Amino acid sequence: MFRNLVLVGFMGSGKSSVGRLLSSLTGFALVDTDNLVAQEARLSIPEIFRRHGEQHFRELETAALRGLVGRIGLIVATGGGIVISPENRALLPRIGPVAWLDASPDHLHQRVRNSKRPLLQTDDPRGTLLELYKAREHLYRETATVRIDSSHLTHRQTAQAVLKTLEELRPENLSG
Ligand code: S3P
Repeated sequence: MFRNLVLVGFMGSGKSSVGRLLSSLTGFALVDTDNLVAQEARLSIPEIFRRHGEQHFRELETAALRGLVGRIGLIVATGGGIVISPENRALLPRIGPVAWLDASPDHLHQRVRNSKRPLLQTDDPRGTLLELYKAREHLYRETATVRIDSSHLTHRQTAQAVLKTLEELRPENLSG
């Protein structure tokens, strides 16, 4: 078993929904870094971006992550950009094994096309998504303990695949 379990992945990869299922399957409490940031700022994520900019959001995100080191019994869902910062990439595996919920850019686009994600409010949201995905893919790969391709999976199947894949790992790869 693991102390905590961290979920990373692009916007629309299902981190929050799969995190909820993993929380009920494991009995671990679900923590979402976007929620921690919004609580700290007392603003919604789009409002933080609008009023204070992305850099400020990133600072709050790193502070939220630092606060999770040393905790136990958590499923930690993260924002899609959490892997951009080298400090975050170092902090994440200290919290627990990191599961990367991946999906093809086409599937991700389908899932986020009607959402209000601040970074996708551009003239060409699909092009922006592709660019961001390409820029981040190697960072997820670098940070993750395991990768689950959820393109053709339901949230429940994805949650089950995360647990099964982690079970198959050697114990030394699970230490967080
Ligand atoms: C972001 C993803 C969002 C949120 C913020 C920035 C990103 O979270 O943290 O809008 O940089 O990809 P989700 O991945 O839950 O949409």
